[in-house]
Amino acid sequence: MGSDPRPSRSGTSDLDEGGHVSIVDERLTYVETKRPLVFDEIDFTIVDPDRVARELAAPLEYAQRVEAAVVGLGIETLMPRRDRRVQRFLHVWSIDEVGHGRALAELMDQLGIEAAPELEPRIPLHNQLVGVVTRLSRPMHQVVEAIWATAGAMNEHLAMAAYVRMDEILRSLGERALHESLFRTLRSHESAHKSFYAAYADEVMTQMDRWQRRLVALIVQHTYQPVGAGAKRDRPAFARTVTTLAGDHWEERIATPIQALAERLLNEGREMDPFVRDAVARCLASEPPRTG
Ligand SMILES: [Fe+2]
Ligand SMILES: [Fe+2]
Repeated sequence: MGSDPRPSRSGTSDLDEGGHVSIVDERLTYVETKRPLVFDEIDFTIVDPDRVARELAAPLEYAQRVEAAVVGLGIETLMPRRDRRVQRFLHVWSIDEVGHGRALAELMDQLGIEAAPELEPRIPLHNQLVGVVTRLSRPMHQVVEAIWATAGAMNEHLAMAAYVRMDEILRSLGERALHESLFRTLRSHESAHKSFYAAYADEVMTQMDRWQRRLVALIVQHTYQPVGAGAKRDRPAFARTVTTLAGDHWEERIATPIQALAERLLNEGREMDPFVRDAVARCLASEPPRTG
């Protein structure tokens, strides 16, 4: 995690495009060739279902809802003129996320946790943005792509961090089967998704003018919401997840790494207003933190 090599942007506006393309291509190849999650190969053997349900009910509900939200989005109709690499990525990404949602729903079923009520099929903001790309001038097209990729990287980081922590909890409970056959894969998939988005954001950002980069940073900073917590009614579920996974350490375990990723992608690593912390804090304020 956090080991994405970053193309150099050192003071030149005329960068070798081939180098950047190859990083995006490399990440794309990884996404396409990584080990898939095969539903029939998941081992749902659970040593202590009551305990797992107690410890992980909130994050499972949250994660399953987020994963299930991409089902049936009709991704291919969204971006009539999208980059061929984005098209290839979204194809695999959709299959991955639908598979994650299905696996989590099955796990919840086995644990006797009711799957969260389905959200009405709403297209995530970063995908809606891609939908308007085709009607924009080239500079605005790039701005939209950079926002899409940055928001995507931040969302995937959050998903990855949640699965890393859920996996740790499962291992500490001795739930080896779920660790080996499900959560290890979920973690690595989200990491692969994040790496593609981040590489794509890097590539687009290096090709843009300063005003475009500033606009991207401004928009991300002022519109950021943790994935699955965009609507007011979704915030309590996200807050319970944050509390379960990180307790009092939510800032350093959840907000700070996502903020650092945003600063790296948007501001050449320089500090920005703590907009991620503020967004998470707003969610927590919707549900008083509880522990245990
Ligand atoms: Fe996922
Ligand atoms: Fe993902």
